[in-house]
Amino acid sequence: MTADKSSPTAAIVLAAGIGSRMRSALPKVMHAIAGRPMVGHVLATLAEAEIAPIVVVIGPDMDIVAKTVWPHACVIQKDRLGTGHAVLQAKPALSVFKGDILIAYGDTPFVAPETLRKMRAARARENKNGQKPDIVVLGFSPKDPGAYGRLIVSADGLERIIEAKDATPAEREVGLCNSGIMLADAAVLWDLLADVRPNNAKGEYYLTDIVGFARKAGLGCAVVEGDEEELMGINSRVELAEAEAIFQRRLRRQIMENGATLIAPETIYFSADTKVGRDVEIGPFSVFGPGVVLDDNVTVKAFCHIEGAHISAGAIVGPYSRLRPGADIGKDAHVGNFVEIKNARLEEGAKVNHLSYVGDARVGAKANVGAGTITANYDGFNKSHTDIGAGASIGSNTVLVAPVKVGDGAMTGAGAVVRKDVPSDALTLSEGRQKNHEGFAAKYRAVKKAEKEKKK
Ligand code: UD1
Ligand code: MG
Repeated sequence: MTADKSSPTAAIVLAAGIGSRMRSALPKVMHAIAGRPMVGHVLATLAEAEIAPIVVVIGPDMDIVAKTVWPHACVIQKDRLGTGHAVLQAKPALSVFKGDILIAYGDTPFVAPETLRKMRAARARENKNGQKPDIVVLGFSPKDPGAYGRLIVSADGLERIIEAKDATPAEREVGLCNSGIMLADAAVLWDLLADVRPNNAKGEYYLTDIVGFARKAGLGCAVVEGDEEELMGINSRVELAEAEAIFQRRLRRQIMENGATLIAPETIYFSADTKVGRDVEIGPFSVFGPGVVLDDNVTVKAFCHIEGAHISAGAIVGPYSRLRPGADIGKDAHVGNFVEIKNARLEEGAKVNHLSYVGDARVGAKANVGAGTITANYDGFNKSHTDIGAGASIGSNTVLVAPVKVGDGAMTGAGAVVRKDVPSDALTLSEGRQKNHEGFAAKYRAVKKAEKEKKK
């Protein structure tokens, strides 16, 4: 189904609730699922459905939400007087907008763009009386209808929405519920919202009242149905964890369908923005934070933690590697166990295989960085750069005291502390000369043994 391009659609995202059940100093919609704040998921969905402009309704002291949703507009709802009141706060920001307005919730992050397209299509579909609905509500039939608003439907379409608290026992029997998501013609929305009054069980301005008002005015209302899983709202940390699990299952499936092998997929955690190429293989228990790109044919072995990193084709990372932001792993490069890489580029075929820290550095093509090598990049005040040339061989346990440069093809001896630049093709050694004391160890043991005997 394609959207009706002739009617532009704007969105109002309701996010003024503090979410007291989260028991958090952070506004509810800032809690992340797959490394992205809930409200970020909503914005991504709206973008995919080509819905713009977007106005987000936030509460006072929610600057962090405003920053996160920028450059989208934010308006502040000072007093939380209900969903109808919240939507009205966005009116000035959309006063010149003509078209449809979609109301979405910042704490309902999984609505599929396809479902929004279906709602738009429903706006254009005539009912048996030849009437196109002015309001389309997204409904669903949850296992437990609980406190959800109920959708009262007749042969002529949606008649009204009744909140559970205001419903009669018979109305509460209705299984079709209001997801809260609604699409309406802008002029109709503003017109009907003006009549909403807080004369109900909660004493709130209910957005849902506009459906009954519309029917009284002779306008049409329709329902589009969605899945319970896509319409789940998140109110607590437990629900957040459930949402995370659902979203991870989706991500893993998508990544496998795109041609990657996941070994024990249920143990691998991705971010919403992780990009995984074809014929990538990922071992068990790896975690991908935001901003990771894996090109084709990359291998990530078990137990890696990777964020803000790019891994090029043919590279092998892990087991037990940590790639931090700015790690740029070149073609066919290797990163091995207990290696941490931050803000550093490994050029083609470079190897850092064991127990190393490489930060603020370049490792030239085919260079080999020996076990236990450390780039000492921080002097307590400034971060400095280390440059390792192509084909260089860094001996085990070398400390590279940045800023420092090791030339192409140069070598450092085991345990070297490199404070000055090393010219190309040179060898640098910085340890004292080795002396062997013949027979010393045997004599030492004999003395110690005699001492022990005496004490007895
Ligand atoms: C609302 C619907 C109900 C629906 C349910 C779905 C109304 C009257 N009821 O009920 O029919 O089944 O959602 O989850 O609309 N918000 C504000 N400002 C406010 C009030 C709410 O921004 O003054 C935001 C909240 O942050 C939340 C959303 O609107 O994201 C819904 O508010 P909530 O109080 O949870 O509404 P419900 O009572 O659950
Ligand atoms: Mg709610």
